[in-house]
Amino acid sequence: MPRKFDADRLVIASHNQGKAREIAECLAPFGIALTSAADLGLGEPEETGATFRDNARIKAVAAAWLSRLPALADDSGLAVAALDGAPGIHSARWAGPERDFGAAMDRVEQALSGKTDRRASFICALALCWPAGADSAQAKGHCEIFEGRVDGHLVWPPRGDHGFGYDPMFVPGGHEVTFGEMEPARKNAISHRADALRRLVDACFRKD
Ligand code: IMP
Repeated sequence: MPRKFDADRLVIASHNQGKAREIAECLAPFGIALTSAADLGLGEPEETGATFRDNARIKAVAAAWLSRLPALADDSGLAVAALDGAPGIHSARWAGPERDFGAAMDRVEQALSGKTDRRASFICALALCWPAGADSAQAKGHCEIFEGRVDGHLVWPPRGDHGFGYDPMFVPGGHEVTFGEMEPARKNAISHRADALRRLVDACFRKD
């Protein structure tokens, strides 16, 4: 049985404002006070995991440990079929230290040159972690992890200035516009993050 969330405060363990905004929009109906890792001055741990789930867990555990509060972390990225799932867990790193997503999208497009398969998916792992007892520095706390995805295809040139990251080149299945062209509420209804959040809310937030 997943552990139920019964606190009234939650740390969003992300320094990515786009992610933090979307998580806050999706959790708004639950009336929980949200604090960001940046507001608390928490550092960012190194993402040494091999999967989205591992990295989400690393970030949530670190934030819960440092803040002594429950923490929710998101690790997500773009997986391109013809690139064997790249950039995947390296999606942020493809944008370089400047976090230049224009350059990251160029890099994806160049890697795809000559290929006709333009299928891609966004994947999101969310880890909700409760801090361990205050006296146990070794304990890692308890984590629940949920994964969501949205399948679609990539277009070029990028279109739209909503959202963040690779949104302007991603068209979700069944749609003709990119995430970058969608109003936030429309993206939030179908995105990988919304999918993962729905699973998390169903398991940990809804009262039976
Ligand atoms: P990380 O989870 O901090 O390693 O970074 C994930 C990266 O994946 C972000 O910096 C974005 O580049 C990309 N990404 C994740 N979710 C989205 C999304 O909803 N739209 C566009 N790009 C995303």
